[in-house]
Amino acid sequence: MTLASSVLAHVSGIDLYVPGRPIESVAREHGIEPSAIVKLASNENPFGMSPAARQAIASLEGNPSRYPDSDSVALRDALAGHLKQDPQRILIAAGSSELILLAARAFLEPGRAAVMSQYSFISYGLAVRSVGAEAIAVPALDWGHDLKRMLAAIDERVRLVFIASPNNPTGTMLSKEDIERFIAAVPSNVLVVLDEAYREFTPAEHRPDVDKLLQRHDNLLVLRTFSKVYGLAGLRVGYGLGHPDLIGYLKRLQLPFSVTVNAQHAAVAALGDQAFVEQCSSANKTERSRLCAELEARGIRYIPSFGNFVLLHVGDGPKVFRSLVERGIVVRPVANYGLKEWIRVSVGLTHENDAFLRELRAVL
Ligand SMILES: Cc1ncc(COP(=O)(O)O)c(C=O)c1O
Repeated sequence: MTLASSVLAHVSGIDLYVPGRPIESVAREHGIEPSAIVKLASNENPFGMSPAARQAIASLEGNPSRYPDSDSVALRDALAGHLKQDPQRILIAAGSSELILLAARAFLEPGRAAVMSQYSFISYGLAVRSVGAEAIAVPALDWGHDLKRMLAAIDERVRLVFIASPNNPTGTMLSKEDIERFIAAVPSNVLVVLDEAYREFTPAEHRPDVDKLLQRHDNLLVLRTFSKVYGLAGLRVGYGLGHPDLIGYLKRLQLPFSVTVNAQHAAVAALGDQAFVEQCSSANKTERSRLCAELEARGIRYIPSFGNFVLLHVGDGPKVFRSLVERGIVVRPVANYGLKEWIRVSVGLTHENDAFLRELRAVL
């Protein structure tokens, strides 16, 4: 008898999540100074974090010897104030990834299914399969979600639907009217996860009115993160917004103390510096336009993006990825999304984007 005969088939069958390659590993493999490597692989904030967040972490001396507040009360209350939400409707987690998994664990099991769009965040399918449920990927429409077909795919087995706006890796956005209509049409026994990891990069007037949606729909979970524009990806902190009962179900499954002391403190400080958020989001827009204009000038096809990344057509994605890595530029191959001819590049600082464009010219 071996362990292999005991491991659950739906577990051994799951593909590993492939993260963006860390700077240190590329430096070791290719003998490049870490400081010379440009990482544009994980949609992080190239400006780092707000100085206030850095200061908050520096001032923590000694505190991380104690367990964190398992309810993240200070952060939850700061968010409640910032969003004008009832704190009971907020769940702080170790990144929005933790919430994706909690939602799958709370609502799915073998025999049940979840609906998502083709070319949407790979973790949705991984989370769904990790609990033995079926992931139904609905063919994309113009690189984004085909909401009509997604709705039609909801049968009696389906208890979870994922929509992302903006969507990773394609960068497409759903209109707020389409989001509203979709959620209203989903049966009330099916949880809708609206993933807004990149919300802050979209024009304010196009963002869905989440307050109104939460008031109307008890079957809605909105995901947000401090990993992207807030620049705290390495600390792992995000949050979910939903009906207090839903928050309660997810909380029951959450690992106690999953959000670290550092993460909680830094996130409170980061939230307080909205000027930083706006500066970063505005710089992203300027650089994204410049990047896309250059791709256009070179005749390289790309998908217009509302996030802090761009999906571009390069022919042989894995090969271009490897050639760029050898030159110290780390982007994201997306063959695991069924997009072998494409790569995804995060929008970096001006000199990083210049380096990417220069090396891309050399390898294409
Ligand atoms: C659409 C989307 N949702 C969620 C996440 C997870 O982010 P985190 O777990 O860092 O909050 C990502 C990360 O890339 C993402 O692209």
